Amino acid sequence: MGSLRSNYSTSGRTPFSTRRRAILVGAAGVFLFALVLLYNHLKALSLDRATSILSEPLPLPDGGQSEEIPATKSSTTSDATEECSWDSIYDTSPLELGNSSAMEASVFNFTASRPEWLVPPPRHLQEPLVIRLGIISHPREFERRKAMRQYVLADLPTQEVTIQYRFIMGYTGSHDDLRVSQERALHRDIIVLDQEENTDRMGEKRWRMLKWAADVPGSTYDYYMSADTDAFLRLAALARRLRRYKTRPALPGNPRETDIMWGQMGQHGLHLVPNPDESHPQIEDPETPPGPARFWYQYPYGFGFLLSSHLVDRLVRPGVVLPHHMHYPSDDVLLGNWVADWGEGTTVVNDIEGFHDPIGHHSDPSNTFPVDWDTVVTHHVKVGEMRGLRYMKEFEDEWDVSPAS
Ligand SMILES: *[C@@H]1O[C@H](CO)[C@@H](O)[C@H](O)[C@H]1NC(C)=O
Ligand SMILES: *[C@@H]1O[C@H](CO)[C@@H](O)[C@H](O)[C@H]1NC(C)=O
Repeated sequence: MGSLRSNYSTSGRTPFSTRRRAILVGAAGVFLFALVLLYNHLKALSLDRATSILSEPLPLPDGGQSEEIPATKSSTTSDATEECSWDSIYDTSPLELGNSSAMEASVFNFTASRPEWLVPPPRHLQEPLVIRLGIISHPREFERRKAMRQYVLADLPTQEVTIQYRFIMGYTGSHDDLRVSQERALHRDIIVLDQEENTDRMGEKRWRMLKWAADVPGSTYDYYMSADTDAFLRLAALARRLRRYKTRPALPGNPRETDIMWGQMGQHGLHLVPNPDESHPQIEDPETPPGPARFWYQYPYGFGFLLSSHLVDRLVRPGVVLPHHMHYPSDDVLLGNWVADWGEGTTVVNDIEGFHDPIGHHSDPSNTFPVDWDTVVTHHVKVGEMRGLRYMKEFEDEWDVSPAS
């Protein structure tokens, strides 16, 4: 290689002889071939790790230097991946929103004094409340997931509340799937279900989310929570509320030992017979025949609700077969159906003050309430409104640091 280079530089202006040219071309060929071999070798070595490289430094393999890793990455990305431009597909930049989209002052009501239950517990006193949070998401909601991470999930006081969360979605068959896979590699907080994202399969999605919650023993967490991406969650306030709020009826006790369903409740009488045939998952399960099995029950509005870990364990125990073929928007009714049929004796907390739409955020005004101290789950909010809520002075002590932007 040294002689090749000197040939080139010293004889730049002199025409090469044919033989010299042949040697040069041959040498260049060998060089390129060696490059291809090296590339394939590196690729084989690094393929498994390539995704994690995107999010954080890897542990050093075999005592190597960390500088080697970006080199591996660039050799992977520069040559081979033109067709999917892996580097540029997912926009990794954080949201930078202006102030303008925050909700109007008339939406809020803080005339009452701050309630006792909202006082933060002494730091040393309590074990954190552990919540497994499944955020029901559509692949295309890239911005909403960013807002959730930035304005809801970042900087929570972990001594008060520990969140194990995942965004849960199906696939679309579109370019978004590729962007999602890169987003997932970066953030490691996404589960892509083996089902198409489809309003006809929302019941199935709810069911799979429940199974996700139950992936760990109920004795290791307090509540499974489900939330929509257009719901703003004050998770520390929620934890304080779940612990201390005087409920009607009073809470029976520890969520790891008792059955509790918490949220804003509706009423329904739908009971379904589970259809074990999965060949047409978009077809709704048949209704239970008329009779005493078709009693009315409460079900949680799907935008944000909690089931105690004990209740989750009850719903997934062997022998329980849950119906799960139900179209949007009745997919949340299904939750009530499960609890009514398989969770007898569950304490249901209808917490409308805590879980609701703000004034002006629902077509039916009787369904809306001012955002106040009690509002721990605010539904139907825009991304900018989430930012506004995160900045409120009244909620200041519910995150560890002031938001950066
Ligand atoms: C939002 O705007 C108000 C007034 O325009 C300003 O006082 C406040 O500092 C802004 N808040 C943030 C977080 O930018
Ligand atoms: C605001 O809160 C106060 C105290 O809770 C209550 O009396 C009042 O009715 C509320 N106002 C509105 C508009 O809801």
